[in-house]
Amino acid sequence: MSQQNQIKPIVQMRDINKSFGAIKALDGVNFHLMPGEIVGLVGDNSAGKSTLMKILSGAYTRDSGEIYMEAERSISTTRMTAVTGASR
Ligand SMILES: Nc1ncnc2c1ncn2[C@@H]1O[C@H](COP(=O)(O)OP(=O)(O)OP(=O)(O)O)[C@@H](O)[C@H]1O
Ligand SMILES: [Mg+2]
Repeated sequence: MSQQNQIKPIVQMRDINKSFGAIKALDGVNFHLMPGEIVGLVGDNSAGKSTLMKILSGAYTRDSGEIYMEAERSISTTRMTAVTGASR
C-alpha cells in the first residue's frame, strides 16, 4: 500500500507519562483512534482514565510523551486546542 493511501489515526498518544507528586498516574500509555472507530476507555478506579483524557483535551499537561492529531505533532505541554485550531 502506498503511503498516500494509508489510513492514519485521528489521534495518537505515545508513551504518555504523568505524575502527581509521588503518584505515577500514567506510565508509558499508548493510545490511538482510527477514523470511524468507537473506543471505550476502561480501567479500575484511579487507573488514570480521566487523566489521559484531560491530557488529550489540554486540561492537564503531560510530563512526557507525544501526541499527534491527524498526524500533526503537538508541541510538548501545549494545549491541544492550539493544534486542532491550526488544522481547521
Ligand atoms: N489533580 C490531581 N492531583 C493529584 N492527583 C491526581 C489528580 N488527578 C488525578 N490524580 C491521581 O491520579 C490517579 C489517576 O486518577 P484518574 O482520576 O485519572 O483515574 P480514573 O481512572 O479516571 O479513576 P475513576 O474511575 O475513579 O474516575 C489517581 O491516583 C488520582 O488520585
Ligand atoms: Mg475518572
